Amino acid sequence: MLAAQKLVKSKPALTQIHILPNLSSLATQTLKDNIFTEGKDCNYTAASGKMLLDGESQPRFLYPFQWLWDTFFIAGWSSNTDQSVVDVTKFLASQTDDGFMGHIRYNREILARKEYFPPPEVYYEKEGLPQTGEVISKITQPPNAGYGLLELVKRLPESTEKTLFAKYAFDKVYLYHKYIYENLVRDGLFVTTHPWESGDDNSPKWDGIYNRIREGQEDMHTFVGEWLGKMGIAYERVDIKLIHHTQRPVHPDYDIYLYLIYLYNRWNWNRATILEKSPFRVTDPMTNSILIRSNLALIELAETLNESQEIIEQLKRWAEITTMELDSLWDKQEKIYFAKDLVTGELIKIKTVSGLMPLFSTVIPQENADQLAHHIDLITKSGLVRYIVPSTFPSETSCFEPDRYWRGPVWIITNELVAEGLNHYGYKDCADKIRMDNLELISNTLNDRGGFYEYYNPINGKGLGSPLQSWTAAAVLKMITTP
Ligand code: DGY
Repeated sequence: MLAAQKLVKSKPALTQIHILPNLSSLATQTLKDNIFTEGKDCNYTAASGKMLLDGESQPRFLYPFQWLWDTFFIAGWSSNTDQSVVDVTKFLASQTDDGFMGHIRYNREILARKEYFPPPEVYYEKEGLPQTGEVISKITQPPNAGYGLLELVKRLPESTEKTLFAKYAFDKVYLYHKYIYENLVRDGLFVTTHPWESGDDNSPKWDGIYNRIREGQEDMHTFVGEWLGKMGIAYERVDIKLIHHTQRPVHPDYDIYLYLIYLYNRWNWNRATILEKSPFRVTDPMTNSILIRSNLALIELAETLNESQEIIEQLKRWAEITTMELDSLWDKQEKIYFAKDLVTGELIKIKTVSGLMPLFSTVIPQENADQLAHHIDLITKSGLVRYIVPSTFPSETSCFEPDRYWRGPVWIITNELVAEGLNHYGYKDCADKIRMDNLELISNTLNDRGGFYEYYNPINGKGLGSPLQSWTAAAVLKMITTP
């Protein structure tokens, strides 16, 4: 049965502040319902829940696989720690020998259903999909594995299994960081080379870069379609069959996402070439803050697990260098962090929630944290939105779109990270306001189609995107249990 069917049927008026008392059990149930149950590769928590399309009898998932940052936030925050151990173990099994972890771990058994576009073949143009074993994408995601693992391990009851699991997972996540620092970091910062790798794919901060890439191409859409066609893949997005297109990235953005994959196949996925030549190479505050926080988490885990001094020192060096360089993304005039376009060397001065994310790193100076808290206060007082924190600031009037993915909606997940950071820097009231907004948004939109939406309109509170998003449910469990 769909979790949606068990949720409350009527939608309360938005004017009513109404936090459901059984929110925690609904969130737990949603996570349970999102566990994939068919075939050999079953028993993992899919990033989103089942949806029934008009005229179809087989429910579909918007996100039927495991995504990296979804998996580790869910694992860190879900109350079902047994399932979290399964999810993390499954995800880590997809790591390649050199330490890389893809942003998607596909379920190869259901690829034929074409439930998700693009299929993994796009990453394997030259060699084809591996005949057996794991199938992953060849880009990664904001590296939250260390953070999620620590949060999970802290909540596991003491036992031999816990120690074995923690040691096994620590080694793998440490290797992932080694891969990152050896291959994806330049001058101390993680260099993001694909919008899906940034996590906030269609954020307006990337628009200028997309326009620049388009300049050299006459008809990007046809070009990409032909490239896919040669691999026998139809250029047909599935996401907009499930979710209204006004809530998803526009077609020209998808052209860029695919064009970059086309380029990287030409360069045989050589990381050094990609970092040197890609037309999309940026350093982003959100990714780097998450990386710092994960380094700190791994240090804590390493100490608990009695890892060698060499390992602990290495982790400290990684944390220090990224902390030092994060400062290069701070804008002294605007007093916020911005992403940097490495092609031009310029900061991209569009205010987004990513610019607040250094709060979550816990390593920025108090005076910077004060300024970031002030920005949130300004949004609240502006009256431009009813719920904070919109993914793109409403003051960015030329690109703010309250319904469209990362261009304006409130994401419960980024809110929770910002709230945690605010608490760390002594802004408990502001953190509480964000959490109350989160809970109100969720409580007001539980209905017979679902609850725990992927994102929310910050003006009218409408639930948007996937109606049963696993990490939204997991974030609720964290919020409810966090002092
Ligand atoms: C999607 O499909 O929208 C994801 O963001 C890509 O990983």
